[in-house]
Amino acid sequence: MTNASAPPRGAARPGAWLNGVALYPGWLDPAAQQATRDCLARVIEAAPPFSPETRFGKPMSVRMTSAGRFGWYSDRRGYRYVDRHPSGSAWPPIPQPVLAIWHAVTGLDREPDCCLVNLYRDRARMGLHQDRDEADFDWPVLSVSLGDSALFRVGGTARGDPTRSTWLHSGDVALMAGPARLAFHGIDRIRPGSSTLLPQGGRLNLTLRVVT
Ligand code: SIN
Ligand code: MN
Repeated sequence: MTNASAPPRGAARPGAWLNGVALYPGWLDPAAQQATRDCLARVIEAAPPFSPETRFGKPMSVRMTSAGRFGWYSDRRGYRYVDRHPSGSAWPPIPQPVLAIWHAVTGLDREPDCCLVNLYRDRARMGLHQDRDEADFDWPVLSVSLGDSALFRVGGTARGDPTRSTWLHSGDVALMAGPARLAFHGIDRIRPGSSTLLPQGGRLNLTLRVVT
């Protein structure tokens, strides 16, 4: 793992680094993982996950939903944040225990506007991309992993930069901030059956973002 200069000011001290992304392995203990899972079950009930289309019209293998003022959305018109679930309902609020993770790790008072919930089953993956649909890249993106382990790949800020990867396990947190805020990143694959946290198996990933 590559070392970075320092954690962002106010942030918790990382356990490891991956190309400048701060990693917090095991940030959530098993009881906290279960509590977070249970809050997320209510979000999923209120705002059922769907498969967005890429801007090329292909359905993504990852199913998604969101909580917060805004949810992330994609179709042939491109990638963007919208204030409604496709059903027309407002997104449910971001659960308090999830906000508590954000505040504890980032050290920020400002709340995130969006908690994107990604649901990976079987062969779902996410290609290398940058998170750049937000207005101000000075705000970090915080990722929380629950359920099956996933191979997380991180490069630099140019698509062709060399990449490194590591397995993210249930309860791990990652912070993309500072120079790594715009790092290319993706999920190569999950390891189905590696966790019993989610009743139907698979992996849930939360990414918390300040949008406006
Ligand atoms: C994302 O980049 O939106 C998700 C990353 C992950 O699933 O860990
Ligand atoms: Mn991303």
